[in-house]
Amino acid sequence: MAKKKAAASSAKAKEGPAESVRLLISSADIQGKIREMGSRIRKDFPGEHLLLVGVLKGAVLFLADLARQIPGEVTFDFIAVSSYGKETRSSGQVKLNKDLDSSIEGKVVIVVEDILDTGLTLQYLLRVLQQRKPKSLKVAVLLDKRERRIADVRADYVGFVIPDEFVVGYGLDYAERYRNLPDVGVLTLPGGPH
Ligand code: IMP
Ligand code: MG
Repeated sequence: MAKKKAAASSAKAKEGPAESVRLLISSADIQGKIREMGSRIRKDFPGEHLLLVGVLKGAVLFLADLARQIPGEVTFDFIAVSSYGKETRSSGQVKLNKDLDSSIEGKVVIVVEDILDTGLTLQYLLRVLQQRKPKSLKVAVLLDKRERRIADVRADYVGFVIPDEFVVGYGLDYAERYRNLPDVGVLTLPGGPH
């Protein structure tokens, strides 16, 4: 018995303990918040055509739900960006991987992002989009990790302010995984914080 237990635990040590996800924000809370956000956005821009610009890929689920909570005319477009790598991340070097399909000149644009962390990605995006002369440029984020902010940017619409923990689910990934979880949770890796 003891032998068996030892064998099992050594196998486990080899594999390492599993990653785990602790619930932070439930799907119901997310949906409730998005409902409020959608009606606020419409109140701020009554009767206007709104162009939602989703930041791929994390914001896809949020954009899909938010769009359905904004009455009236709403269209979407998508943009994809990535940081140049972990080392240069704090330098604010961001690369545009996929541009928008259409011009935003004269349009009411709302950038839809999953999470605002250092703010470097958003700062870059806003600079690029502002140059294209939209009528107005706003930002909606589901999550805001305020403690981590480096760049001087803020979102106009914020779902939840969260502590400095690595979260996954509802579009947010860890190495492309967990995006499909309906809730947002804190990811715990076996080796402690990454
Ligand atoms: P920022 O440029 O540091 O604000 O980074 C924003 C991007 O980093 C987000 O769009 C996410 O893709 C990613 N990110 C930041 N924090 C998290 C997290 O806790 N979980 C998953 N992705 C994150
Ligand atoms: Mg993102």
